Amino acid sequence: MIPDSRPTARQLLAFYLEAGVDCALSDEPLDRLADPDIAQAPPSAPAKAVGAPAAAFFQAEAPPAPDAAIASARETARTAPTLEALRALLENFDGCALKNTATRLVFADGNPQARVMFVGEAPGRDEDIEGLPFVGRSGKLLDRMIAAIGLDRTKVYIANVIPWRPPGNRTPTPQETQICLPFIQRQIELVDPDVLVTLGNPSTQALLSTREGIMRSRGKWLEYHTGTRTIRAMATFHPAYLLRSPSYKRMSWQDLRAIAKALAR
Ligand code: URA
Repeated sequence: MIPDSRPTARQLLAFYLEAGVDCALSDEPLDRLADPDIAQAPPSAPAKAVGAPAAAFFQAEAPPAPDAAIASARETARTAPTLEALRALLENFDGCALKNTATRLVFADGNPQARVMFVGEAPGRDEDIEGLPFVGRSGKLLDRMIAAIGLDRTKVYIANVIPWRPPGNRTPTPQETQICLPFIQRQIELVDPDVLVTLGNPSTQALLSTREGIMRSRGKWLEYHTGTRTIRAMATFHPAYLLRSPSYKRMSWQDLRAIAKALAR
């Protein structure tokens, strides 16, 4: 007898999860092959997450080559006179393919006048749904870390190096990071905090020009240069890492004490 090779629903869902398709975008299934817009689409049209509106599905143009996208990001970001303008420029920026698979832009949360700015790597699923950084499990821990130094989200500013969720929470590629870098650099310049805190290795390496791992780079004062000003910067563990390795919370507490002391001046 020939075994039934059709996957079970469980196997199919596991396959979708592996491929980064982990949320339904609409309640009803949609037969895309029966959609006339799709039937007319060019064969090279890029793919988009399951359930995305059909018209947007194939209208998205292929992103520009990485070098052109990085150059365009630099050109674009530096023209933003305010944070609102920067957000609008990002909303319209088509140089990063992550925009095509993310639900929405995750720009920032907190107070743009804050003296301290925290920067993570990239939004996850919860952030992609809510449009705010650090709202999932690691965000709850970040809130507790911030509370440990007597602050809350109304007194700090929070953003990510990458403002769109990578599909399936995969690690952003070096090109994606380079394309998004000019925007977070301009965001830091516009917020102009007294203290910049990078959360975890990717954000530390992207912003503080270090190749060292977080174990070596954390807990010491570094410098972040905006071009017009030098900002005191400290790397510390990413809250997601602390959730997996709680024994490092003690070191993260030391980093937070140093940050609190710097802010007390
Ligand atoms: N991890 C991050 O780096 N950023 C978020 O916003 C959420 C999780």
